[in-house]
This record gives sequence, structure tokens and C-alpha cells, in this order.
Amino acid sequence: MATNRIKDPVTDTETTGHEWDGIRELDNPAPKWLMYTFYATIIWAIGYWVLYPAWPNLMGGGYTKGVLGYVQREEIKEQIAAKRADQAVMHDRIASASLQEIRGDADLLSFALAGGRVAFADNCAGCHGAGGSGNTGFPVLVDDEWLWGGALEDIQYTILHGIRNSSADARYSEMPRFGRDGILNREEINDVAEYVLSLSGHGTDKAAAGRGEEIFVAQCAACHGEKGEGMRELGAPNLADDIWLYGGSKAKVVESITNARFGVMPGWAGRLDDSTIKQLTVYVHALGGGE
Ligand code: HEC
Ligand code: HEC
Repeated sequence: MATNRIKDPVTDTETTGHEWDGIRELDNPAPKWLMYTFYATIIWAIGYWVLYPAWPNLMGGGYTKGVLGYVQREEIKEQIAAKRADQAVMHDRIASASLQEIRGDADLLSFALAGGRVAFADNCAGCHGAGGSGNTGFPVLVDDEWLWGGALEDIQYTILHGIRNSSADARYSEMPRFGRDGILNREEINDVAEYVLSLSGHGTDKAAAGRGEEIFVAQCAACHGEKGEGMRELGAPNLADDIWLYGGSKAKVVESITNARFGVMPGWAGRLDDSTIKQLTVYVHALGGGE
């Protein structure tokens, strides 16, 4: 490659001396604005290295800390602490408000519903399904069919103390095991099951259902009601509404009568704080079935 610096006759500018197939390169200086911007970025970078954490310390490990002592982690910690403090105010307000007051105050209500949704997903959805959609043996909480009651206070009591657990305050009732304990024989269980199914229009054997009605009145009505409408004091489900906790097929109903069920829910008093239990109460109440 020739290095023959000459003056370009057309532009009167010196060339770099390089030539490719007769094409020469003019030696124009870079534009001033570009050079100044370039110098400015260098100065800015040096300033940044001095002020902020910048260079890995290859000898001693760690990194240069910068004279400002800025730490991103600290900044986030402060932001989280500030949010916590904001929330603490709301938690205190909720803890000292009645359930009705929470329902009546737009700020408290939206805070409680948001917090309740999270607490429900963390603590309750494993049994009751996402959003309270229910599972076999674990009641749906989005409908207005209640075993123990759907008013705010009822729901709060259920959450605080649970159902059929070892706590003395827990809601409690126990259906007899009619088959296993020999209270009714196979035919009687078949008949009363037919009667139960007929209450929601699923009976297939009228004669059996007729015989079953007598058994029902004698053995079941005390808990499930004269017409199978259920009884909340005992958590005895409505048997006439075609909503089933344990399944509404003939086989499932026979199984419920033969062995009885014993659904257990833990209590949350002492495990969740006051504010969280109230948030859950308001959230469950608002799922659609609140009374
Ligand atoms: C270990 C499983 C389990 C967990 C966890 C659980 N529950 Fe329950 N829950 C049950 C069972 C079982 C029943 C029904 C018991 C029965 O047959 O009466 C029930 C009943 C209820 C009822 C009464 C429904 C009615 O119709 O009256 C409410 C309200 C309720 N749960 C809310 C919650 C909330 C809120 C949480 C979370 C803090 C929760 N549950 C966590 C098992 C659970
Ligand atoms: C001492 C009260 C009591 C008596 C008596 C009783 N039950 Fe029950 N029954 C309950 C309770 C409480 C439940 C809910 C149990 C649970 O959730 O673990 C229940 C549940 C059921 C279920 C399951 C309902 C569902 O939604 O899956 C059926 C079916 C049933 N009972 C039928 C009967 C029949 C039939 C009789 C009479 C032969 C009877 N029960 C007598 C209290 C009673």
C-alpha cells in the first residue's frame, strides 16, 4: 500500500497517503462537536468512577465503593421500609375497625380485599381451591350456600376457630356412622339414600324413597331439617339443593350415610394476626355469597 501523502487537487485537502485502486482518502479532521462530546464522556466517566461504585477490585475482591457511599440495596431497603410503614397504618386501622366499618370505608375495603386475596392464596387455596372454587370435602366459598353461615361474623368465627379440630372453640358436630356402627342396615341405607336423592329430583326408585322418608324423619331430620334444608347450628348441609360437598351420585350419598364424613378445618387465631383474619373475612364475604 502506498503511503504517499499529497494534496488533493480538487478539494485542496491533504490525503492520508493511502490509495486503493486509484481512490485516495482525504485527511479531514473529525468534526469539533464530535470531539468535544467524546472528551466530555471521558470526563464524565472519570467523575462517575470517583463518585459511585464502579471498578471491580481485582486484587482484594469487592469493588470500589465511590466517595458518595451510594448503595442500591440500601435504597431498596428504605423504599420497602417506607411501604411497610404505610401498610402498618392500614393494618392498625383494620385491626381496630369493626367488620362493618371496614365494609363501609372505601380505602379500608380495597386494602382488605387485596390483602385478603393474597392471604387466601397463601393459606386457604390449598384446601378451598383457587379463589374459593372448592374441592370435594372442601366447600365452595364463592356461592351462597353456607354450612355454618355467611354473615361477616359467622365467617370470622369459622376462620378464627376452624371446624372439628381439637380447639374447644371450634365449630363442632358429628354425623353418626349409620352403616359402620350398625344403626341402619344396607336396605335402609339404600332407601334413605333414594329419599335424599329424590329431594333434588335425582331419585330413581319411588318405592324405596317412600320407605326412606320415614327413616329420614326418624334419623336425619333432627340435623338436616324436616325437608332436608340443612341446619347451620350443626353445620348440617342442605340435602335438597343439589349442591354436594362430598358428591351427589348414589354411591357417594350411600358412602356419606354409611361412614359419615368428618371435615376438619384448622383455626387461624394465633396463626394469623387480627388484621389478616379480618381481611380474609371481608374477602370471603365478598366472593359472592356474603350475607
Ligand atoms: C386443611 C384444609 C383447610 C384449610 C387450610 C382451610 N379450610 Fe376452610 N374449611 C375446610 C373444611 C373441610 C371445611 C368444611 C367443614 C365442614 O364440613 O363443615 C371448611 C369450611 C370453611 C368455611 C365455612 C363455609 C360454610 O359454608 O360455612 C369458611 C368460611 C372457610 N372454610 C374459610 C377458610 C379460610 C378463609 C381459610 C384460610 C385462612 C380456610 N378456610 C382454610 C378446610 C380447610
Ligand atoms: C348429628 C347430626 C346429623 C345427623 C343425625 C345426620 N347428619 Fe348427615 N351430615 C351432618 C353433617 C354435620 C354433615 C357434614 C359433614 C362434614 O362436612 O364433614 C352431614 C353430611 C351429610 C351428607 C353429605 C352431604 C354432601 O353435601 O355431600 C349426606 C348425604 C347426609 N349427611 C345424609 C344424612 C342422612 C341420610 C342422615 C340420616 C340417616 C343423616 N345425614 C343424619 C349431620 C348429621
